[in-house]
Amino acid sequence: MTRTRVEQTGVNPDGQGRRLLDEISQHKAPEIPDSEPDGVITTRGLGVSYGDFLAVGEVDLDFGSKEITALIGPSGCGKSTVLRCLNRMNDLIPGAKVHGRVSYHGVDMYDSAVDVIELRRRIGMVFQKPNPFPKSIYDNVAYGPRVTGMKPASMDEVVERALRGAALWDEVKDKLKQNAAGLSGGQQQRLCIARAIATQPEVILMDEPCSALDPIATAKIEDLMDELAQTYTIIIVTHNMQQAARVSQRTAFFTAEVDDRGNRIGQLVEFNTTERIFSNPDDPRTEAYITGRFG
Ligand SMILES: Nc1ncnc2c1ncn2[C@@H]1O[C@H](COP(=O)(O)OP(=O)(O)OP(=O)(O)O)[C@@H](O)[C@H]1O
Ligand SMILES: [Mg+2]
Repeated sequence: MTRTRVEQTGVNPDGQGRRLLDEISQHKAPEIPDSEPDGVITTRGLGVSYGDFLAVGEVDLDFGSKEITALIGPSGCGKSTVLRCLNRMNDLIPGAKVHGRVSYHGVDMYDSAVDVIELRRRIGMVFQKPNPFPKSIYDNVAYGPRVTGMKPASMDEVVERALRGAALWDEVKDKLKQNAAGLSGGQQQRLCIARAIATQPEVILMDEPCSALDPIATAKIEDLMDELAQTYTIIIVTHNMQQAARVSQRTAFFTAEVDDRGNRIGQLVEFNTTERIFSNPDDPRTEAYITGRFG
């Protein structure tokens, strides 16, 4: 897929969210969902505290399957914190406490009966900085299937399918036994995507997956996201407005408000189709952020 790209980062400098969408839609009309998200994952009254500090509160979101949802907002508003709740990654952070409810297909993810390893197999994660293990390319991809006890007839096939799915196969097929550290940053990030999809998840969480990459590597990952969304549900945190507008069908805008004790508490301001958020948001704070007057 060839697309001309707007390679600026950060908020739209000319202050026109509408123009940004128009510019992008010349190359690909944004898909505007015509129904409410089906809620493969839902949050109700979700909040997270670190010790006594309530970092983010009252988050109600419904994520639609095989859609891309972008989480945007200024630094510190709780995007990564919320994302980590969606596959219980916050369990690993000392002092983090999750309030409210997060459901996966209607099941409370935080119920003590939930097998967290299996949950994270179904809801994978790709981080900001590519973090391949110090192992071969092959072993990076085979890692998830091995630790989650998958017993495929052919691990070679699983590895190839995942690398093809991450648009990396052609670049690495002759050096599968080489250490992953030898790959470029963009290749390493696609390897991390291959590692995430090797366990056949349903949902992929991505926290600023392109922020450490150059524009060409970023373009490759964005194209890949379009492909992946045919099969997977994707939830992506991004600081890049153009990226949110280009890749997502729905967008959630967060901000942080200062309470009377001077604490900055993250909150969800608005959740809607990306088209609506960028062209005609309901809340003036969303508009101020999108148009570059705040953030
Ligand atoms: N492990 C932690 N321990 C204590 N406080 C934390 C921890 N992680 C995040 N916080 C606090 O929670 C709030 C939200 O942080 P979070 O990283 O979720 O924001 P963010 O929106 O992802 O920001 P950025 O855009 O800079 O990545 C911040 O005030 C942050 O300092
Ligand atoms: Mg973050």
